[in-house]
Amino acid sequence: MNILLTGSSGQLGQELVPQLEGLGEVTLIDRNVRPGDRQTMKQDLADLNRVEILLNRIRPDIVVNAAAYTAVDMAENDTFPAFRLNGELPGCLARWAQRNDRLLLHYSTDYVFSGDSERPYREQDKTEPLNAYGESKLAGEWAIAASGCRHIVLRTSWVYSGLGNNFVLTMLRLARELPSLSIVSDQTGCPTWARNLARVSRQIIDRFLSGRPEEVPLGLYHYCDDGAVTWYDFALMIFTIAMELGLLDELPSMTAVKSAEFPQKAERPVYSVLDTSSIQEAFQIERGDLEESLRVCLEETIDHD
Ligand SMILES: NC(=O)c1ccc[n+]([C@@H]2O[C@H](COP(=O)([O-])OP(=O)(O)OC[C@H]3O[C@@H](n4cnc5c(N)ncnc54)[C@H](OP(=O)(O)O)[C@@H]3O)[C@@H](O)[C@H]2O)c1
Repeated sequence: MNILLTGSSGQLGQELVPQLEGLGEVTLIDRNVRPGDRQTMKQDLADLNRVEILLNRIRPDIVVNAAAYTAVDMAENDTFPAFRLNGELPGCLARWAQRNDRLLLHYSTDYVFSGDSERPYREQDKTEPLNAYGESKLAGEWAIAASGCRHIVLRTSWVYSGLGNNFVLTMLRLARELPSLSIVSDQTGCPTWARNLARVSRQIIDRFLSGRPEEVPLGLYHYCDDGAVTWYDFALMIFTIAMELGLLDELPSMTAVKSAEFPQKAERPVYSVLDTSSIQEAFQIERGDLEESLRVCLEETIDHD
């Protein structure tokens, strides 16, 4: 078994590395490779011709694409790189997978939705991104579907991990630096620990490898951890657990603000909770619990501090 993992230095990628170990030969691809790291192959994935050459050389049985352009606000002006990485790269990987009868595992986002739903979003619900990042990720979904390759696309939301650029670590840092914080309280979503998403990915691959591939229900699924909160609720949860663990001395003063009072370049959906019943049924997936997962993630940051 030969597996290609892109974006191995990202939040999800770092969690996928140990999950994929043991399945066979895993080739990691990233554009920045640390000196001495012999496992990772250096490649800018925006160069699609080189990507195709690499695919033909490595000939992976499974391509796991955790690389993405994830800077939501920057994507508003930086649309070309965002669409290249999030729209065209998945299409390139998918067409290669189709031609060579290989499996593509890819990730998308809750930001493909507009946020005007009154119930958790299902896979078939109308997509209507509010920002360029969401549009670029939707372009990737469409390119994969159009290729006709065997694929799993997991839409997920509000990803965090103990390493990387994310809301949890930003809130912890700001709580230590500032006496008071203003936090958006009118956007609701499901924070998802990258480790849980990586675990689910492994479960899907195991299922694919253990049975007859044609019997595996491939396609588009929603996965997020169990717990819908606003950014304000999530920050309070982070601070409360961080204080219990001794990561924070005191609770910062918190002010709940509306999105309109906290202008950002990219508009975000006010409600992007994902309905995960399809993936739970199809793959007997157990969702990670928001609070428990956050606690373990924060416990681990103690060792990194
Ligand atoms: N983060 C979220 O809140 C969130 C929410 C919903 C869905 N998702 C989706 O979940 C997946 C994983 O997200 P994540 O949070 O793990 O993302 P991430 O931490 O930003 O990691 C993205 C990875 O892609 C790599 N990458 C970006 N541009 C590249 C290029 N031109 N060439 C080679 N590598 C490149 C990055 O490398 P560098 O470190 O060099 O940039 C990094 O390793 C993505 O598909 C994302 O769209 C994320």
